[in-house]
Amino acid sequence: MNAATVLGLGMMGSTIARLLVDSGWQVTVWNRSPGKAGALQARGARLAATPEAAVEASDLVVMCVHDYRAAEAILAAPGVSLAIADRVLVQLTTGSPQDARDAQAWAEARGAGYVDGAIQAAPSQMGRPDTPILLSGAAPAFAASKPMLEILAGDLVYLGERIDAAATMDLATLSYVYGATIGFLHGARLAESAELDVAQYGRIVRQISPSFGAFFEHEGKVIRNGDFRVTESPMRISIEATRRILQSSLEAGISTEVPALVVDLFDRAEAAGLGDEEVAALIKVMRDPADASCELCG
Ligand SMILES: NC(=O)c1ccc[n+]([C@@H]2O[C@H](COP(=O)([O-])OP(=O)(O)OC[C@H]3O[C@@H](n4cnc5c(N)ncnc54)[C@H](OP(=O)(O)O)[C@@H]3O)[C@@H](O)[C@H]2O)c1
Repeated sequence: MNAATVLGLGMMGSTIARLLVDSGWQVTVWNRSPGKAGALQARGARLAATPEAAVEASDLVVMCVHDYRAAEAILAAPGVSLAIADRVLVQLTTGSPQDARDAQAWAEARGAGYVDGAIQAAPSQMGRPDTPILLSGAAPAFAASKPMLEILAGDLVYLGERIDAAATMDLATLSYVYGATIGFLHGARLAESAELDVAQYGRIVRQISPSFGAFFEHEGKVIRNGDFRVTESPMRISIEATRRILQSSLEAGISTEVPALVVDLFDRAEAAGLGDEEVAALIKVMRDPADASCELCG
């Protein structure tokens, strides 16, 4: 019988444990607050009394807690350091690239395999064919955990042995998400200041989003290949569009904070002579550390 231990029964950890139990796995759980295990026990999970007992129960140990500080507190519990030897620890807690490097060093020093993962879905979206989890870690550890991970997510993106790859790609994706979020919200200000239906604006954004996903996939290849000859979108169009957004925002009397940031980048691209290149050439401006104007950027 397949067996796994799940450490952490928050919203995500409970979902992970439930999916495994419902797939017929023998699941041992542990949570700081033991009261959260009741529903899982009713489905057949076993509740371990200590983190050490939980780790001892299975060769495969999945952790999903609030952050890496919480994870470290659990791994520092008595006996875990020894019990983890020869097991594979799959860390699905969200963390930074440095967290991943530190966690791998901790696991390997104790003779354990280590896989670092970033879940890119909400608990209610887990277990579906299109559920994405980014993963990195040594190939044998990934192979050992793959049957378990396939129950949690149909879209496993294995990024190779560099342990910080999953956390880095997760941050890169989040950077896109938050850039889009502030752009979306500035657009909402434009729409509402013109007394237009912001819900309809949301629907329009949804309609164009799949084609923008394909566009960004193309721009990613442009950057990787280093060939910035125009193939999809000349920089000049974006220079003009972003100035138009800024000017119209000024005229509407709304905050110009977001378009001013964007216009500043595109102005510098123009000044650097990139106007007739593909829009992704903006990254050349962003690669220059001398251009980092943020006070926290160092
Ligand atoms: N929920 C989502 O939509 C989602 C989506 C993608 C990724 N994630 C990631 O999944 C991880 C878990 O998220 P979550 O939504 O399940 O809930 P959460 O509230 O972030 O985590 C709750 C879990 O962490 C435990 N915990 C917190 N501090 C602890 C400590 N000092 N020592 C031991 N245990 C501690 C809690 O134990 P107690 O029950 O005792 O408090 C509980 O098991 C996070 O890293 C999150 O970023 C979540």
